[in-house]
Amino acid sequence: MIGKSSEKVVLVAGGTGGLGHAVSRAFLDDGARVVVTYRSEAEFAALKDAADAEGALLEGDAVDVTDAQAVEAFVGVILTRHGRLDAMVNTVGGYAGGLKVWETTPEIFNRMLDLNLRSGYTLARAVVPAMLKQGAGAIVNVAAKAAVDHAAGAGAYAASKAAAVALIDSLAADLKGTGVRVNSILPSIIDTEANRKAMPGADFAKWPKPAEIARVILFLCSPAAQLIHGAAVPVYGGG
Ligand SMILES: NC(=O)c1ccc[n+]([C@@H]2O[C@H](COP(=O)([O-])OP(=O)(O)OC[C@H]3O[C@@H](n4cnc5c(N)ncnc54)[C@H](OP(=O)(O)O)[C@@H]3O)[C@@H](O)[C@H]2O)c1
Repeated sequence: MIGKSSEKVVLVAGGTGGLGHAVSRAFLDDGARVVVTYRSEAEFAALKDAADAEGALLEGDAVDVTDAQAVEAFVGVILTRHGRLDAMVNTVGGYAGGLKVWETTPEIFNRMLDLNLRSGYTLARAVVPAMLKQGAGAIVNVAAKAAVDHAAGAGAYAASKAAAVALIDSLAADLKGTGVRVNSILPSIIDTEANRKAMPGADFAKWPKPAEIARVILFLCSPAAQLIHGAAVPVYGGG
């Protein structure tokens, strides 16, 4: 579609989740070898089934991406096995809302920072040295519209996503001129099964689809996007 990813090796963290599944499928359809982190064996099996013939290009492991040592070891295995890592997409994240800041427990606050900020840090820390050696690589970190639009009742979520964008922005400055590109994307509500269950009365047609967002991520990781570095790309749709 955008330039075949054949022989490319792509790590999709959270690659069996609502958005992650579509991102993994997009890279598999494009001919890339895709290595995912997952938490549920059943979700990994479902992704393999859905990928059909391309499922042969899918690998994965149950890795806690908030654990820096586990992520480092996981990336080490990918590099030993394949000798390269062309792209990394972080789709791990979590949401906590409906709580004013003073009602937010330290546990919820820490969970937001772990899932939405620490995940991007541990993954970038593990993959960037290999990409620097290659002199090439692309990273996309999934933040959220909430990073720039700070609604009531979602202080911990908004702060964690805003910090994630700042981290990636600073990483982009660190990587200037190296051939390694890094960008954030900012979805609003995505049309996932979980959101349909949580908001049954909503107009689902208005929500961007995971496959549509996956196409933007595929583009950002492709040579066609070589001029895009340090961006935070809104993917809210025009509706
Ligand atoms: N859905 C939306 O409307 C929306 C809107 C704006 C931004 N976003 C962002 O988009 C990204 C993807 O969202 P999504 O809806 O696809 O979420 P999701 O369905 O929950 O997918 C996230 C995946 O990451 C996994 N995960 C959770 N904690 C992990 C950990 N410590 N280590 C490894 N994997 C872990 C989840 O496993 P479990 O399912 O087992 O927890 C899940 O498979 C997130 O960053 C989210 O914040 C989503």
